[in-house]
Amino acid sequence: MVRIFGPLIGLFFAAALLWSFGVGVVQQIREPDPSTAVKDFHLAPKEEPTFSFEGPFGTFHNRQLQRGFQVYKEVCNNCHSLKQIAFRNLTDLGYTPAEVKAIAKNWATKAKTFDPKTGDAGERPNTPADHIPPVYYAGTGNPPDLSLITKARHDGPHYVYSLLTGYRDQPAELLKKYPDSKTPDGLYYNPYFANLNIAMPPPLTTDGQVTYSDGTKATVDQMARDVAAFLTWTAEPKLDKRKQTGWAVIGFLLAATALAYLAKRNIWADQH
Ligand code: HEC
Repeated sequence: MVRIFGPLIGLFFAAALLWSFGVGVVQQIREPDPSTAVKDFHLAPKEEPTFSFEGPFGTFHNRQLQRGFQVYKEVCNNCHSLKQIAFRNLTDLGYTPAEVKAIAKNWATKAKTFDPKTGDAGERPNTPADHIPPVYYAGTGNPPDLSLITKARHDGPHYVYSLLTGYRDQPAELLKKYPDSKTPDGLYYNPYFANLNIAMPPPLTTDGQVTYSDGTKATVDQMARDVAAFLTWTAEPKLDKRKQTGWAVIGFLLAATALAYLAKRNIWADQH
């Protein structure tokens, strides 16, 4: 019975697969997807540069994360919140508790307080236990919270880097092929953004926009890399730990497998 039904069921699945493939092909020939400006001019994130945290052995480099934090603090924090991060988390980047205390205390946006007796709202300096205060933004567009952005976009770190370094003039061929695709006033052309026109003005424009305390030259490219690395840390602070644990688990499983094999040989030694 199985000999008859087995191949028949297999044939059925193979036929169904071929059929749906064929239908797709016919449809594509009859009615090809219309070409659109986004389809023709949108670019996938750049593969270069590679980051220190890529690959199974990759780890964060604290100096880079500190530089990225500085870029976030001095540039991006004018518009973007980072609500998932508390100041005390910054000790992960190699800052001492005293430094974290000072960073929190000197943060430009103060922590909001609320007096339950009078109902009055007030302000106080941040402490390491506070989360980075939300940012108020009144310009065009809605800057998303950046805590998880590298997880929310495909190929996150490369996407953020490409977006920041991707601003340019609209290519002439684009306007020639799609005359009504001129970037509207108040938006900026960026082929890495999903619909090519982004409300964020180019945030990193000049070399030396921030002054790195470790002496690294703050080129636009360098700042974009550093802040992309920092935003990878905010989205997955335990990345290093996860990889280390993974290797330990694999090592343990290998050792356990070897033990199990030896035990089997031992137990069955006199059975032939
Ligand atoms: C002047 C305000 C402003 C500054 C400064 C700024 N941004 Fe933005 N950003 C925006 C706005 C507005 C949007 C929303 C854009 C849209 O939806 O068209 C945005 C969107 C984004 C996005 C999301 C794009 C997407 O795929 O949805 C990322 C990532 C981003 N910004 C990163 C940064 C980084 C990193 C910095 C600092 C280097 C920065 N931004 C500085 C205003 C700003």
